[in-house]
Amino acid sequence: MAAASRTAVWSLMSAVTAAGARCPCHAPAVSKVLKRHAPGCDNHNHNHTHHNHNNKAFSTQKEDADYAFEMATSTIRYGKGVTREVGMDLKNMKMKKVAVFTDVNVAQLYPMKTMIKSLEDAGVHYVVYDRVRVEPNDISFQDAIAFVRKERPDAFVAVGGGSVIDTAKAANLYLCHPEEDFLAFVNSPIGKGKPVYNAVKPLIAVPTTAGTGSETTGVSIFDYTPKNFKTGIAHRSLKPFLGIVDPLNTRTMPPQVHVASGLDVLCHSLESYTAIPYNERTPRPKNPIERPAYQGSNPISDMWSIKALKMCIDNLPRAYKNPDDHKAQEQMILASTFAGIGFGNAGVHLCHGLSYPIAGGVKNYQHPGYKVDHKIVPHGISVAVSAPAVFKWTAPACADRHLEAAALFGANISNAKQADAGPILSDAIRKFLHVLDVPNGISALGYTKDDTKMIVEGTLPQHRVTKMSPRPVDYEALERLVEASYTIY
Ligand SMILES: NC(=O)c1ccc[n+]([C@@H]2O[C@H](COP(=O)([O-])OP(=O)(O)OC[C@H]3O[C@@H](n4cnc5c(N)ncnc54)[C@H](O)[C@@H]3O)[C@@H](O)[C@H]2O)c1
Ligand SMILES: *[C@@H]1O[C@H](CO)[C@@H](O)[C@H](O)[C@H]1NC(C)=O
Ligand SMILES: *[C@@H]1O[C@H](CO)[C@@H](O)[C@H](O)[C@H]1NC(C)=O
Ligand SMILES: [Zn+2]
Repeated sequence: MAAASRTAVWSLMSAVTAAGARCPCHAPAVSKVLKRHAPGCDNHNHNHTHHNHNNKAFSTQKEDADYAFEMATSTIRYGKGVTREVGMDLKNMKMKKVAVFTDVNVAQLYPMKTMIKSLEDAGVHYVVYDRVRVEPNDISFQDAIAFVRKERPDAFVAVGGGSVIDTAKAANLYLCHPEEDFLAFVNSPIGKGKPVYNAVKPLIAVPTTAGTGSETTGVSIFDYTPKNFKTGIAHRSLKPFLGIVDPLNTRTMPPQVHVASGLDVLCHSLESYTAIPYNERTPRPKNPIERPAYQGSNPISDMWSIKALKMCIDNLPRAYKNPDDHKAQEQMILASTFAGIGFGNAGVHLCHGLSYPIAGGVKNYQHPGYKVDHKIVPHGISVAVSAPAVFKWTAPACADRHLEAAALFGANISNAKQADAGPILSDAIRKFLHVLDVPNGISALGYTKDDTKMIVEGTLPQHRVTKMSPRPVDYEALERLVEASYTIY
């Protein structure tokens, strides 16, 4: 971890050198960024008029704001072929019955075949649950919960993308809280948002996409069908016991799954890097158990997020255009883990908030390359389509960070003013999405102007993420973001 952080610091520093001389008060932009996030540094002894004048309205220190943050992540094991070791892990842990979660598609592929062989070689007793729904919903979660309440496994293995890992987390949670009904732990105000109080069983997460970072986080996302939008369950104790990051497992992804899952990495890193600083988030918890998993940007998450952004920008187009570019694919699965560590603690904001109704309200959209028997807007696509509008709008809250991001995309920011940050980053993202053949906005996903209200109303209650926006949102602001996302090119 030390080496990785150091690399991240260096890449951050070189990324911002071009912008370095803009602020005579804190010459390298990086030191300004870090200072801004150090508790107590916001009001130190000289005036910051020139970099506060753009964001006065958004960053006044509030008395009830938090003053601390906490970093949590799963243990991660990275390496080509490490999937083979999982059987031995479970044997070492003396597990008697393991529930192996996957989807019908991944069940036929290399990662799952390798896993089954590993369990058999180690003599581990297991049962397979392969009914995971791609882009899971409350109904598919309930099916998985019923399965494990009947089978009573003492450990979980999830082999698949975010859909599989998230389903295993939820099944594990409700297995260990037999007295709770389904909404108990779901984010408030949609569910009751209770903190998890019993220990859960160990889950070994084996991602087969390079996207969600779910192997590192305590987050589980599903489509809540009564409301037609996604929501989630978020608690540190849902973090996998171990994340197996094996670059051999993503080789069979169709190009469109590379893109969609990779765009999730892009938005995780951009949103967490630009999230409200942790020491501006309110309310300050009275008891540490109430401190949310998504706490706002902070100096440790920043390192992971900015590095993930760079890796994604440099490697996703290569992974998409050339299925044999294993180097780029390896960088992408690493980037998804980096971004997971960053956003899993800092949080994501408006692209994710807007994506929940955009995904949940799907009508007839079929994404190329996705082998599924139901209509979905893949998660990464649903987050990326609003990114040009979102970052244009959030830029005034932390213009320097938006300019740093733009520089990583290759934008020339040498003479850029703070007021240009939004348009410059927005254009850079737009170009990036175009190269990846991302559909042209939410109209290409089947939405018409009549759907604006539905999308805004489905985003408003997503407090877990909307409260991470560096600029406070209201109905009108969301309406403008949706309007601007119907077409993006
Ligand atoms: N828990 C979190 O922190 C978190 C974060 C972001 C997104 N999510 C959720 O994760 C889900 C999306 O997950 P995802 O993007 O990883 O994709 P996914 O799990 O939905 O899978 C997408 C498709 O790719 C296929 N696939 C997966 N791995 C493959 C492989 N190696 N080879 C060939 N095909 C493969 C699957 O069968 C499926 O058809 C969404 O529900 C989203 O909301 C969760
Ligand atoms: C900062 O500026 C304010 C006016 O905007 C002034 O009242 C105050 O004295 C200044 N503080 C310092 C330390 O210069
Ligand atoms: C960046 O833009 C400035 C003018 O704004 C120009 O002088 C410089 O040559 C540009 N750099 C590159 C690499 O295009
Ligand atoms: Zn995501």
